[in-house]
Amino acid sequence: NHKNKIDIINGQKRAPIVVIFGHVDHGKTTLLDSIRKTNTVSHEVGGITQSIIGYEVEHQYFATKEQLVFLDTPGHQAFSSMRLRGAQVSDVAILLVAADDGLKKQTIEAIDYIMNNQIPYIVAINKTDKLDLNLSIVREQLANYNIVDQNMYGNSNIIEISALTGKNIDLLLNQICELSNKLSLKSDNNSLAQGTILESYLDKQMGAVANIVIKNGALKVGHTIVSGNTYGRIKAIMDHTGSKINYAIASSVVNIYGFPSIPEAGLHFQVIKSEKNSKYLINKYIHKHTESNINKSLNKRIT
Ligand code: GTP
Ligand code: NA
Ligand code: MG
Repeated sequence: NHKNKIDIINGQKRAPIVVIFGHVDHGKTTLLDSIRKTNTVSHEVGGITQSIIGYEVEHQYFATKEQLVFLDTPGHQAFSSMRLRGAQVSDVAILLVAADDGLKKQTIEAIDYIMNNQIPYIVAINKTDKLDLNLSIVREQLANYNIVDQNMYGNSNIIEISALTGKNIDLLLNQICELSNKLSLKSDNNSLAQGTILESYLDKQMGAVANIVIKNGALKVGHTIVSGNTYGRIKAIMDHTGSKINYAIASSVVNIYGFPSIPEAGLHFQVIKSEKNSKYLINKYIHKHTESNINKSLNKRIT
């Protein structure tokens, strides 16, 4: 009867996966904190995001409560391949630019990725609470990349925000809802889940834990999940509120238990129905997703 439940919600609207891109320290994590109204940024070692972190949130968009999934990405140069993997899972992008710093290396890397892959996006000029800013400089820099404010019918694709004070965050979320509604994203629960490993760690009682975001398809307890060079049978699924569930569908962030070893954060994952007779599929998958092959295909995308 879990299958029946999955069938019922198949083909229904799914939440957009929104990825926040920007140069190091431009305020991605602070923006996400502001959206979640908590404070994770102060817990980070040196204030640097070490992995992609995902959250399911709700936003009141006119008369409806819209579900949104947000992914933070690390801005530090060393995490470039992880950032690009986060980009692969995104439906919508937020390009965050600090008003006092302008376009920087990771900003331009994100612009290239967004343009080459035609990801719908919104630009957020952040830190506009700061005094003595000349925002026309940032807007000119953006214009050099053909990013200009469309501002049609009162809708803007470049929004001046402050992650710190909360200025225009609601407006930003409204624009994201508007953009993602146009995409009419649908869930496809008849296919097997695939997506991205956001974080992973070892739990003393439960063993390897993978926090994942599902881009397509559905997964159930008992399915075999493959990522990098590790695979295992899913023995438990925990939703983002910490409740045990039996299956998970597209656009959800869940914890998966059952990997024999810790899968690498940032890597793609795929579900295979049963381990039996699937050694061939698993080997094929592992070959396709080895680090060198991933980098080759990512480089192809950005050049
Ligand atoms: P990485 O994950 O390291 O790439 O950084 P990040 O983009 O997540 O930036 P983070 O949120 O860690 O913010 C960096 C610094 O900028 C922190 O000191 C924040 O308090 C500050 N900051 C972020 N947003 C704003 C803002 O809107 N206004 C001001 N004045 N400061 C901000
Ligand atoms: Na930072
Ligand atoms: Mg951060």
